[in-house]
Amino acid sequence: MKMTIAKVLICLLCFIALVYAQPSPDLATMNALRDSLKFGKDFSWTGPDPCKWSGVQCDTSNRITRIQIGNKGISGTLTSDLNTLSSLTVFEVMGNMLTGALPSLAGLTALETIYAHDNSFTSISVDIFTGLTSLQHVFLDDNPFSPWEIPMSLKSATSLVDFSAANCSLSGKIPEFLGGQTFPSLQKLRLSSNSLSGELPLSFADSPVQTLLLNGQKQKLNGSISVLQNMTSLTEVSLQANAFSGPLPDMSRLVSLTKFNVRENQLTGLVPSSFTELQSLAVVNLTNNLLQGSTPTFKAKNIATDITPRLNSFCLDSPGVPCDPRVNILLSIAEAFGYPVRFAQSWKGNDPCSSKNIWVGITCTGDDITVINFKGMGLNGAISPRFADLTSLRVINLSQNNLTGVIPQELTKLSSLTTLDVSNNQLYGKVPVFGPNVLITTGNPDLGKDGPGHASGSFGSNAGKVVGSVFGVVLGLLLIGLIVFLVVKKRKLNRKKYPQKHSGEEDALKITIDNLCAGGSESGSNGLLVEAENPVKSIQELREATDNFNEKNILGRGGFGIVYKGELQNGKTIAVKRMESSVISGKGLDEFKSEIAVLTKVRHRNLVRLEGYCFEGNERLLVYEYMPQGTLSSHILHWQEEGLKPLEWSRRLIIATDVAKGVEYLHSQAQQSFIHRDLKSTNILLGDDMRARVADFGLVRLAPEGTQSVETKIAGTFGYLAPEYAVTGRVTTKVDVYSFGVILMELLTGRKALDIKRSEEDVHLATWFRRMFINRDSFHKAIDATIETNEETLRSINKVAELASHCSAREPHQRPDMSHVANVLASLLDQWKPDEDIYGIDYDTPPPLLEMIERTNNDSSFFGDNSMTSIPSRPRQIDNTFQSGQGR
Ligand SMILES: *[C@@H]1O[C@H](CO)[C@@H](O)[C@H](O)[C@H]1NC(C)=O
Ligand SMILES: *[C@@H]1O[C@H](CO)[C@@H](O)[C@H](O)[C@H]1NC(C)=O
Ligand SMILES: *[C@@H]1O[C@H](CO)[C@@H](O)[C@H](O)[C@H]1NC(C)=O
Ligand SMILES: *[C@@H]1O[C@H](CO)[C@@H](O)[C@H](O)[C@H]1NC(C)=O
Ligand SMILES: *[C@@H]1O[C@H](CO)[C@@H](O)[C@H](O)[C@H]1NC(C)=O
Ligand SMILES: *[C@@H]1O[C@H](CO)[C@@H](O)[C@H](O)[C@H]1NC(C)=O
Repeated sequence: MKMTIAKVLICLLCFIALVYAQPSPDLATMNALRDSLKFGKDFSWTGPDPCKWSGVQCDTSNRITRIQIGNKGISGTLTSDLNTLSSLTVFEVMGNMLTGALPSLAGLTALETIYAHDNSFTSISVDIFTGLTSLQHVFLDDNPFSPWEIPMSLKSATSLVDFSAANCSLSGKIPEFLGGQTFPSLQKLRLSSNSLSGELPLSFADSPVQTLLLNGQKQKLNGSISVLQNMTSLTEVSLQANAFSGPLPDMSRLVSLTKFNVRENQLTGLVPSSFTELQSLAVVNLTNNLLQGSTPTFKAKNIATDITPRLNSFCLDSPGVPCDPRVNILLSIAEAFGYPVRFAQSWKGNDPCSSKNIWVGITCTGDDITVINFKGMGLNGAISPRFADLTSLRVINLSQNNLTGVIPQELTKLSSLTTLDVSNNQLYGKVPVFGPNVLITTGNPDLGKDGPGHASGSFGSNAGKVVGSVFGVVLGLLLIGLIVFLVVKKRKLNRKKYPQKHSGEEDALKITIDNLCAGGSESGSNGLLVEAENPVKSIQELREATDNFNEKNILGRGGFGIVYKGELQNGKTIAVKRMESSVISGKGLDEFKSEIAVLTKVRHRNLVRLEGYCFEGNERLLVYEYMPQGTLSSHILHWQEEGLKPLEWSRRLIIATDVAKGVEYLHSQAQQSFIHRDLKSTNILLGDDMRARVADFGLVRLAPEGTQSVETKIAGTFGYLAPEYAVTGRVTTKVDVYSFGVILMELLTGRKALDIKRSEEDVHLATWFRRMFINRDSFHKAIDATIETNEETLRSINKVAELASHCSAREPHQRPDMSHVANVLASLLDQWKPDEDIYGIDYDTPPPLLEMIERTNNDSSFFGDNSMTSIPSRPRQIDNTFQSGQGR
């Protein structure tokens, strides 16, 4: 009987268990998750109850609380409904090979931890963090997400302690909400190795964050780091490899700071004692900035520092040695302007009056600073009273800046001062009394008033300034144009007065069009086509091919003609250069003929080849094979606007070698020695195989015998002109070597030969490049950021950079021959054979025959397509050819 009762009781319990032991409500979600994961050998989820799966934990009601399957060799994807696991507190999937999206976890209010780092996730849901009010630890590092920004949904994760998202394609700005208001518990913020841009948010000021790692944003984070002064909990900071500028702030409140790394930025100014005196410091890296003043010494014991005076702008290398008093005064003056980068770059060493090392804006008489000329330098800030300490000053010109504040009374003490020009600024306040005619104050609307004007007033004057400075630039360009024009004109006059020896080489390039025209007289004649595979029979055929020279077929404009794309009836694509009717009457014909003459004499796989030409009436047409990939300049200078991919280094090296070989042939291997005179990246064309051909032979001349030079009309393009040629008009093959050096610099840096948008001393690529090339670190900054570098590429890049400098040496005799250049480049290609799979090219296969297209490209021309060009833009007179290099 007892037994029976026991049995009944057991049965009853079983029944109750059956009724109440419901399967986990998360069963469906977990089953789906299991099905979308791919487990390796050593780990899997088996059995019907997810609560029993390894790495999974449930609470008493069988809700999933933890999924911890990190480092288990799992691949596959995550399911999108993980946000139904509403009791989940820990989600760890790091160190696997998961792909696809990291799905939304929105609404999981219990979730505290997300470890998803070191996977292959390709995207992340923007609302992943919505409502995650318990979230404390987030690690997303090292995932190949498609570019994403720190999502707004993170705002609701107000319990956040660590947020780590390094090397995972973050872009955009650091959001303002990342400060202490939103995240009062945040200790660690690690966003290294991404593409974040913009400035540090001011909200950081009240952030309790201790570790702040923002290094390696491809030099995109910029602006001031002054907000650090209020981040008093900081223990470790890395801002390496960004573009932060301005001075180090007062650090006296950062009493826990141990590691401080700001290498490779543009920080300027003095290293403040509030920093050097911090006792907590253990590691300090300041290398490769523009820090000024004396080289710092630090108080803390056992500190490791990496300061490298040579890679900063300290006055002396020895730590702790004070600067020359003149340097200190100038630095105080610069301080009032916020330590401009431009001064920090130029003011090197301890002698502002050094003859070797000119300090921008400073002029001396002997060892005395007598003139300070900072006009139009875009300065902000105020006029320092410390000007008064440079007692030998005679002239101070601060005009055309954006200076505010008052004119310091102290300046009246300067007894030798004859001129103080503060015109066109935003100064205000009482005007001190100077001697007669000393002070020039025009263009400061608020001077004499108590303070700066109203917003509208200052806007008005700002707008005026903008107009004014644009006007200034236009005026400047007109002036340059005028000077060049006059020089050219003068040369022409001189020529008339002193007719030069008739140089035989000009004859060699002359061509009698009549002889080449089938059909006799120029009017009504048909052109002929030499050696073309598919000879064009008539001008009519070319008209049809180009849809009657339809504008939509324009590929570009050359110096003397427009280039059209055309398709012949047999399907072959061609490029047709049509001489503009406006120049037919002029002597632009000479260039046209010269091009024909040269192109019929030279044949090389790296030079474009003419397929034929046609004349009829006023029509002058040249026919080339079509070069589908366009100009080199669009691939290295305009790839973004043109929607192209930046070129890898190996590709650039191959192109450089092609061009070098083409020019080498022109110089020394063709029947006669030719000088191209207009090498530039818009004259280098690329085929679909991305092999390069040199184009546009309109300015080619025969080279003189031996090492002699010949005086000629200057032609070519600003930025690529060798100095001796620009100044004297003397031309040798070394003129091309110089231009080729500039092209190498463009390939290395992705910067234009001339870029008038840059600051004055950076306008000319060759000059800038020489300056950057002085030391390794600044040089590395100069390398085109799109080039992926490793040790091997860097070695090759360094060699090419040396070669570029060598080619563009100031003295022609210091430049190598083109054959040397071609050999160096070819041997670099040989030494360095990149992975065929990636590059898929065979260096030794010659490119298919010829071709050419010219595209509109205004980049390389000093004057761009500005209508203000006053140099007779490529005068047609062969006698005074000065080519402004208009978009060829
Ligand atoms: C960056 O993340 C990728 C995966 O997206 C990984 O392959 C690579 O090793 C990471 N780089 C570093 C330096 O950790
Ligand atoms: C920071 O860089 C952006 C472009 O990314 C630029 O527009 C901005 O002017 C820069 N700010 C400073 C302070 O240099
Ligand atoms: C730092 O805090 C002080 C006051 O606490 C404030 O006046 C200053 O603007 C803050 N500076 C920055 C850069 O946030
Ligand atoms: C920073 O400087 C320390 C001390 O010289 C050095 O050990 C460390 O490698 C440097 N770190 C970087 C990123 O350069
Ligand atoms: C200061 O510079 C401005 C702008 O170039 C110029 O007009 C002015 O004459 C200069 N002042 C002096 C005194 O040289
Ligand atoms: C000029 O200074 C004013 C006030 O200091 C500032 O707001 C403005 O941005 C500055 N303009 C330029 C072009 O730097």
